[in-house]
Amino acid sequence: MIELVDSVDTGADRAAHLIARVLRAAPDATVGFATGATPLGLYRRLADDRRQGRVDWSCASAVALDEYVGLGPQHPDSFAAYLAQHVLDPLGIAADRADLLRGDATDLDAECARYEAALARTSVDVQIVGIGRNGHLAFNEPGSPFDGLTRVVELAPETRAANLPSLRSLEKTPARALTQGIGSILRARHLVLLAFGAAKSGALAAALDSPIDTACPASAVQLHPSLTVVADRAAAARLRTRVR
Ligand code: GLP
Repeated sequence: MIELVDSVDTGADRAAHLIARVLRAAPDATVGFATGATPLGLYRRLADDRRQGRVDWSCASAVALDEYVGLGPQHPDSFAAYLAQHVLDPLGIAADRADLLRGDATDLDAECARYEAALARTSVDVQIVGIGRNGHLAFNEPGSPFDGLTRVVELAPETRAANLPSLRSLEKTPARALTQGIGSILRARHLVLLAFGAAKSGALAAALDSPIDTACPASAVQLHPSLTVVADRAAAARLRTRVR
């Protein structure tokens, strides 16, 4: 299902409404949180809802999608730091209810195996995802297998460049990351894909309107039985069939 919205704020509201519905049905739900600029409005809205007592997060758990290799949770550019700032602290999700990938693990493969086993045990109720301009999903770059699990990946040059604003320089942007695989992501009960702005229009059209193909990792979402896409008109501008 595609929810077409007129503004990023309305998109954040719609997505917050979906997440709240999951939490009300299952207060001990596990929610998977994406990073990046796209979900920030949603996270602000979730924090507001919690402050106003509309949604109770006290029994909920959180998981992450991905993390840069080499960055521990104390590193300001780590996704763990982002999630602490924008999600875990504002929603009051305690450390023992948040399982995040450790980019500073000494044995990265063991960390990925640990994470995958934890995901399989927990079973994620709703996973929030964004989409990269090259169609990446989490850090699954073009060519990633659709049955892939959590693993160490090389980042595409365009992904490293797109993430420059947060990491400040290309040299400081790690060339590798840990990421949930597409197979891991597809196991979540519900998927909420957020896409805002014209820069995402090509990737969104490739993901939703083209044949499912590993050349566009996000096209794997078409395989998911419970997918909601929340997109603004700019991001949806190149969709041919589903919206207009
Ligand atoms: C990053 C993250 C993805 C995110 C995507 C889009 O590299 N690994 O999980 O969805 O890129 O980011 P943004 O929302 O900032 O455009």
